[in-house]
Amino acid sequence: MQGLRGTQGNGRGQDEITEIFRKHWDVYRDIIEHDYMSHKAAYEKLHEILVEDNRPFSFLDLACGDAYASSRCLEGTSVAEYTGVDLSEWALGLAEKELERVGARKRLVMGDFEKFGQYLDAPPDVIWVGLSVHHLPTAEKGRFMKTVRKEIAPGGMFLVYEPTLEKGEKVERYIDRFRDVVSRTWTGLTNEELEIVYDHVAKSDLPELKEDWIRLAREAGFESAEEVYEDPLEFYSVFRFGV
Ligand SMILES: C[S@@+](CC[C@H](N)C(=O)[O-])C[C@H]1O[C@@H](n2cnc3c(N)ncnc32)[C@H](O)[C@@H]1O
Repeated sequence: MQGLRGTQGNGRGQDEITEIFRKHWDVYRDIIEHDYMSHKAAYEKLHEILVEDNRPFSFLDLACGDAYASSRCLEGTSVAEYTGVDLSEWALGLAEKELERVGARKRLVMGDFEKFGQYLDAPPDVIWVGLSVHHLPTAEKGRFMKTVRKEIAPGGMFLVYEPTLEKGEKVERYIDRFRDVVSRTWTGLTNEELEIVYDHVAKSDLPELKEDWIRLAREAGFESAEEVYEDPLEFYSVFRFGV
């Protein structure tokens, strides 16, 4: 694992991020295992797209966490090189194990996904972010997408799986809708775990309208931009942006 200790994201120190991560990671793993955020279908869609072409490709997994879903999704693809970037050293330790199932050259970097350009040896063919860009305010999302456009290989693809507002919806209404649906359907979590989820979403989530995810990609210079998956409860979408 390539260490870049001292790199910070969202103005927080590494130790604080790791602590929050450890405390909340068990809840997140429970959510994934119950498939409450539609990881299964979102990553299946990514898998389908990755096998459209059987040429070897490099894959950059930004904010990879423990790579639980991405490592499974890369099985059976022609991935030749995998790079995962995350702020949490602890998560990267778990990712190292998960990635044993992937037959590619692998590199894990402890660092801020917004600064990924400095960790690259060559432009990646595919850049993927799962459930992490939405923490950035809109203008920062736009700047990040411009960096992705600049760094991606010719003919490459950028895909995100992120919270998305319903037509005309404001963030406050999204948070109320989320709380309402989650309180009725995420029945496998304890009240304490649900409070962690509500608190995180209310404090950190900045979803965008579908048209705004697409507009930001177009403004960043992507030639194609489309939604390729939406979860049945209309909280999350996967977008594919091409160059
Ligand atoms: C909700 S998890 C997403 C994990 C995985 N990508 C998925 O789809 O399930 C968010 C991850 O982003 C990481 N993270 C948060 N801010 C980050 C940043 N600025 N740079 C790199 N990683 C970050 C956290 O450590 C965590 O592993």
